[in-house]
Amino acid sequence: MSANAHRIAPSILSADFARLGEEVRNVVAAGADWIHFDVMDNHYVPNLTFGPMVCQALKPHAKKPDGTPVPIDVHLMIQPVDALAGAFIEAGADLVSFHPEASAHPHRSVQAIKARGCKAGITFNPATPLDVLDWLIDDIDLILIMSVNPGFGGQSFIDSALRKIEQARRRIEATGRDIRLEVDGGIKPDNIRRVADAGADTFVAGSAIFGKPDYKAVIDQMRAALA
Ligand code: DX5
Ligand code: ZN
Repeated sequence: MSANAHRIAPSILSADFARLGEEVRNVVAAGADWIHFDVMDNHYVPNLTFGPMVCQALKPHAKKPDGTPVPIDVHLMIQPVDALAGAFIEAGADLVSFHPEASAHPHRSVQAIKARGCKAGITFNPATPLDVLDWLIDDIDLILIMSVNPGFGGQSFIDSALRKIEQARRRIEATGRDIRLEVDGGIKPDNIRRVADAGADTFVAGSAIFGKPDYKAVIDQMRAALA
């Protein structure tokens, strides 16, 4: 896969919440390809973040200096899924991913997201097998492999995710469809290459970027590792 195919998706979970618009602008200026937006409900995961109104408020900030929009990648860690998924699409989400365990009818949730003109993703926790793809892979645009348990930034990468990424890559190749393979949790400049070599093309990073003074330096290091 060429380096151009890689996407870096900084997670604003680790940004300064008192300055979110500025943080989004800064990380876009530093080279972010997507903005990863972690939605937690204190029910499906033991943490609480932000809702559609914050997404809507940030939407105008997610663009490059020449006006090119930067996709907002909404990762829903919420239960139930459907009502808020719709609200996030209204608020400007470009991709919406959800955890299949959190939806009573994951296929219907995918259909509902796609029917509204948004890209749909399925997210797999570290202990969740890929089986649900048997019946969903023909309809989705993105597979999101969790390499930490969802709920918090700053956790360590779980190595078994690499085998799951390899499996997911084989599943994608078998379809011949254009499905992005995104990995989320514990990604840093020093392990991103291993994640890419396993088959990932899109990389979420929260604390590795927002925890550092120079966002561009970190993103550049990641791209150099991927090159
Ligand atoms: C965890 C979130 C992640 C998180 C990643 O539930 O889905 O997106 O922000 O953070 P780091 O990169 O710090 O592991
Ligand atoms: Zn996430």
